[in-house]
Amino acid sequence: MLDVRCIACLLVAAHGLDNGVGLLPPMGYNTWNDLGCSVTEDHIRQRADMMVERGLLKAGYTYLNLDDCWQAPARDSLTGRLQGDLTRFPSSIRNLSDYIHAKGLKFGIYTDRGYSTCANRPGSYGHEVLDAQTFADWGVDYVKEDNCNTRSGSLAKPELFERFGMFRDALNSTGRPIYFSICCGGGVLPWANLSFVATDPRGGKTLGNSWRIHADCDEWYTCFQGARVDSNLPELAGQGGFNDPDMLLASGGLSVRRLLPEESRTQFNVWAILMAPLLIGSAFESMSEWDLETFLNEEVIAVNQDPLLKQGFVVKENWSIFGYTWVWARPLSGSSWALVFQNNHIFFPSRVVCDSQCWANLPGLARGSRFDVRDLWKHAPADVPVAVAGEDYSVQLPRGRCSAMFKLSPSPAKDDALLV
Ligand code: GLA
Repeated sequence: MLDVRCIACLLVAAHGLDNGVGLLPPMGYNTWNDLGCSVTEDHIRQRADMMVERGLLKAGYTYLNLDDCWQAPARDSLTGRLQGDLTRFPSSIRNLSDYIHAKGLKFGIYTDRGYSTCANRPGSYGHEVLDAQTFADWGVDYVKEDNCNTRSGSLAKPELFERFGMFRDALNSTGRPIYFSICCGGGVLPWANLSFVATDPRGGKTLGNSWRIHADCDEWYTCFQGARVDSNLPELAGQGGFNDPDMLLASGGLSVRRLLPEESRTQFNVWAILMAPLLIGSAFESMSEWDLETFLNEEVIAVNQDPLLKQGFVVKENWSIFGYTWVWARPLSGSSWALVFQNNHIFFPSRVVCDSQCWANLPGLARGSRFDVRDLWKHAPADVPVAVAGEDYSVQLPRGRCSAMFKLSPSPAKDDALLV
């Protein structure tokens, strides 16, 4: 006899996205951390040109996403459609979309499920079908829908799932494959844990291709609070649907929001472990060599995009009065693993150890398994080139918020200890 809960699962799954996109975590650029509300059409054209010229597109960054503030203050009075702000987007959003596509990129846009967006532009409440169709008509490939200025409050659940669900259905009805990114970050407190969007049967993969699990990542603490929340949700992510700890912050340039260089690289490493969307928020034309090296590291990108599609998590944390350290792990195809050793001590260097308890947290790994260890930033075997499951593997890290990242591949020399 079918369990009642399973019938409920089937019913919920029937409403899920069937759009054929988001098979791997999306990679691209988003305007918000770079430009905030000062975004213009010229900026977008420059970013599109540079995504191609500086090798970002070739590395896999395909989406160019326009966040909030592209809209005119009011809808078109005749058609009721959203329209671009003509003072900053004089050639129209449709033309901009064509320009982006002509570069070989995909085009993303932003709206909000409430009456107005977080920056008080017109929202999609009550206009879901028309707005989804407008976006499809403009050739949009990715929609981020935010959570501000809603009828019953940003966290009022039945309405939250209903309204995001209406936009999902409206997008599905257009027949155009459009990645749907649910952003519950708008309208919540900066430390808000939004993991219910992943765990509720009405949320997660039934609702979108990705869903924010924390308030905005706009400086170190909020980013890593979000990462820590995401670490508890690995089973909820997979092909077509990803937990979203929010966008990437670069370290240089004139970006509205940014991190220190080692912090930004650490975010990139951890986002790869978390199988998170990789959306860069910084101008490519003025980007530092350091940031370019970070975002173009193809070995770390390969971890993010690994076809096994299993999300990683924290396998060891150490707290002391001076701060804390983490070891992160993600299972990869080919019985390999990615490991990140992270130091969060601002003033002290740290020896971060994966000890027997840490190894025991790597699911399915037999004690004594041997691995060749590759340093994904040195692009060479690690200083300690072999790791044995169950035996201490330690990494010395300098002071500051920084990390090292490794790929562990089963050692052909003694493959008597493979995954079970
Ligand atoms: C919210 C979202 C951000 C961004 C802004 C735009 O804060 O969480 O990612 O989209 O709104 O106003």
